[in-house]
Amino acid sequence: MSEKTASNPGLMEKIVSLCKRRGFIFQSSEIYGGINGFWDYGPYGTALKRAVEQLWWREMVEKRDNVVGLDSTIISHPKVWKASGHLDKFGDLMTDCRNCKARHRVDQMENPAVCPACGSKDLTPPREFNLMMKTYVGPVFDEEHVAYLRAETCQPIFVDFDNVRISSRQKLPFGIAQTGKAFRNEINPRNFTFRSREFTQMEMEFFCKEEDSMQWYEYWRGERIAYYKNCLGFSGDEIKIHDHETLAHYAKAALDIEFKFPFGWGELEGIHHRGTWDMSRHGEFSGESMEYFDQDSGKKFHPTVVETSVGLDRTILALLCHAYAEEMAETKKEGVEEDLRIVLRLPPELAPVQIAVLPLTKKLADPAEKLHRDLRVWLRSEYDLTGSIGKRYRRQDEIGTPFCATVDFDTLNDGAVTVRSRDSMSQERVSMDQVRTYIMERLKR
Ligand code: GAP
Repeated sequence: MSEKTASNPGLMEKIVSLCKRRGFIFQSSEIYGGINGFWDYGPYGTALKRAVEQLWWREMVEKRDNVVGLDSTIISHPKVWKASGHLDKFGDLMTDCRNCKARHRVDQMENPAVCPACGSKDLTPPREFNLMMKTYVGPVFDEEHVAYLRAETCQPIFVDFDNVRISSRQKLPFGIAQTGKAFRNEINPRNFTFRSREFTQMEMEFFCKEEDSMQWYEYWRGERIAYYKNCLGFSGDEIKIHDHETLAHYAKAALDIEFKFPFGWGELEGIHHRGTWDMSRHGEFSGESMEYFDQDSGKKFHPTVVETSVGLDRTILALLCHAYAEEMAETKKEGVEEDLRIVLRLPPELAPVQIAVLPLTKKLADPAEKLHRDLRVWLRSEYDLTGSIGKRYRRQDEIGTPFCATVDFDTLNDGAVTVRSRDSMSQERVSMDQVRTYIMERLKR
């Protein structure tokens, strides 16, 4: 019997606890009490994060002739953020409680006149709080040397447009993609990694002609929904589209792809028609032309941009919520305590460990180690010799390992191992020299 429900009130706590226990994600600087809004990824978390980033890159860049990559710096010329509007208008309206000193985002308060922490009505008038993280470049710490950590990865894409376009010989329509860190001084980091102060974005800016832009917007909407369903395995009940009713003055359309987290629906990805806003603003502020010369029409114009923007950390969180399941062992013996199996049903391609090689006893270490060494060239393989075989299976289930290969005494005679599937729990005898092919065939989507 499988019990997996997104309305399970304790589900989030269970996921947070599993992440810490099994080294997926834990608080940054924990020994110093942690730092709010910052999270570290442990060994399994790192493997999962890299796999998801690689999948996104493959789907958005490598499989396409009309999207190319960029890896820009985190710190840009401060004028970039002036031009983008982030320095003047990128913040939340905040109020401070004079009684308990708590600070609140006005848009998140049930009653903006009452402090949600202590109930006091003694609040400061709401004021803008900028989310950009500030630093200094060079030895002098004054206003002239102020710089900002990027609040989104897309701005350098606009700034580098001509460098990328010319060197890659791209013509409209084409896209530039970038993955990397972004920083926001969020007032209220919450829901585990959902709202962090340091996070990774995966963004793609698609440059096209204004007259074609709505067609491209629809195209990318379709592509991204297909990605969530086909690549990550999300069901129609887990994701939904929220079309924005109010739009920026330059935009023709915008939507969020939302995921049903245990704490409610939350934005996973934004698809935005950004008009010519970014390109014309950078043209204006830099004094350099950001126009594109179209050889077919002989005209010069600012390209229109359609953006797909998703948080990698939010994708990981959504995947963990999607994958987490608890099951009662079906062969429960009388008088034996209920046996709970926690299993992460991650897509096999993305699992931190794709195959675990488990020798039944130490005496079988030699053939098992050899199998592990052969497999790890091709797959994320883990070798585990500690504890009973049942405990080892449970441990692998908890980190989402789709296959375990058990080396037993028969292996010495028949050269085969027992491959156990995480999802069906079925066991199959597979010749050692066929294990790689067997697993790789089953990793395919
Ligand atoms: N360039 C457009 C842009 O940055 P956004 O809606 O502010 O748009 C895009 O962010 C995505 O980045 C979000 O859908 C979310 O997945 C992720 N993201 C934004 N703020 C985040 C935060 N504080 N913590 C984690 N992820 C965040």
